Amino acid sequence: MKTLIELNINDRIYEVAVDARDLLIDVIRKKVGLTGTKKGCGDGDCGACTVLIDGKPELSCIKLAIACQGKKITTIEGLVQEGGVLHPLQQAYVDHGAVQCGFCTPGMIMSSKALLDRNPAPTEQDIKHELSGNICRCTGYKRIIEAVEATAKVWSKEGVK
Ligand code: FES
Ligand code: FES
Repeated sequence: MKTLIELNINDRIYEVAVDARDLLIDVIRKKVGLTGTKKGCGDGDCGACTVLIDGKPELSCIKLAIACQGKKITTIEGLVQEGGVLHPLQQAYVDHGAVQCGFCTPGMIMSSKALLDRNPAPTEQDIKHELSGNICRCTGYKRIIEAVEATAKVWSKEGVK
């Protein structure tokens, strides 16, 4: 039996009919149509499906959609700024060559955003720790860490975006 629920995704309310066992990742991608969030392992192991829920990074592949009512969900699409301009963190990933196949990138960026919101001046160790649940098979992580460090440097001068 389907239940009609409301989800706040990227500051927009979506009304969707879900089964009690529908996972947030599937609802976001298939019912809402926001396909930026990726489904890798589907098992809570790779971090590709990371979204922010009330500002905290969460794995949407192990989260029931029905449990996310009344919460503020942010996906990678929610970071894009007015006029389709990339968020500075997204731009830093591009500028530092931290994107190769791109499959891990949305999840990496959402975890990076959560870190910088909480700690605008992270050490390399802080970044490694925060991103330890996000697996990348392409980049070797170095450029990802550099992108986060570079963003942190700018934000420490200009304020967190
Ligand atoms: S798809 Fe969610 S952790 Fe891998
Ligand atoms: S860029 Fe390919 S998995 Fe990370």
